Amino acid sequence: MRKAAFILLTIASLSIAAYAIVAYTLFPVGSLVHPQMKATYAIHRIGILTHIFASSLTLLLGPWQFIPAIRVRWPHVHRNMGRVYLALGVLPGGLAGLYMAMYAFGGIVSHTGFALLALIWLFTGYRAYAAARARNFVAHRAWMIRNFALALGALTLRIQLGACFAAQIPFETFYPILAWTAWIPNVIIAEWIVHRIKSDEPTVRVS
Ligand code: HEM
Repeated sequence: MRKAAFILLTIASLSIAAYAIVAYTLFPVGSLVHPQMKATYAIHRIGILTHIFASSLTLLLGPWQFIPAIRVRWPHVHRNMGRVYLALGVLPGGLAGLYMAMYAFGGIVSHTGFALLALIWLFTGYRAYAAARARNFVAHRAWMIRNFALALGALTLRIQLGACFAAQIPFETFYPILAWTAWIPNVIIAEWIVHRIKSDEPTVRVS
């Protein structure tokens, strides 16, 4: 059951990243979003592209970091992928996300929702890194669960977008709410997982 859920999440994570990379590589910036967002992205092209490509990297790399066999057999792979995840994914993706939050569609409600998400994402990334450096791998795992759960906000957002479109709710009405509801459930689930995990899996030294 847990394995099936993990496989499903992995597929979803890779698919969202693939969608973002394809949409923003093959099409002009903002072609698939609201015209007002497209206009914003044309002005803040570097900000949005940095955000999208760096953040997509976290969805591409994140799932593999939670596979115990990889951590046990190839600790250097886990270590190096983790560095790339944080340094080239979370750090630029989060900073650019924070920047784009100031221009997000939907006014102050969207701005604050996305900005808070960006700050918590950067903070959990920092705590995960600091815990690994301190060789506190129990804390490291907990912070990485929180961090990756926030990255999966990109998935939650798109599920909720689909549901709101299907329910024919006007975009202007639901989008600012989604700037919050896209990640708060993920935080709750991450906390539940962190507290539920017993010491049934060996914690491996990775440096
Ligand atoms: C976890 C922290 C994240 C924050 C704070 C964040 C923030 C933002 C903000 C503020 C925007 C602009 C929204 C607007 O114009 O109204 C945006 C757009 C976008 N973000 Fe993120 N984001 C995060 C994670 C991710 C991840 C992991 C991905 C991976 C695919 C991603 C992909 C995108 C894409 C593709 C857009 C453009 C809109 C679209 O085409 O759907 N974001 N993000």
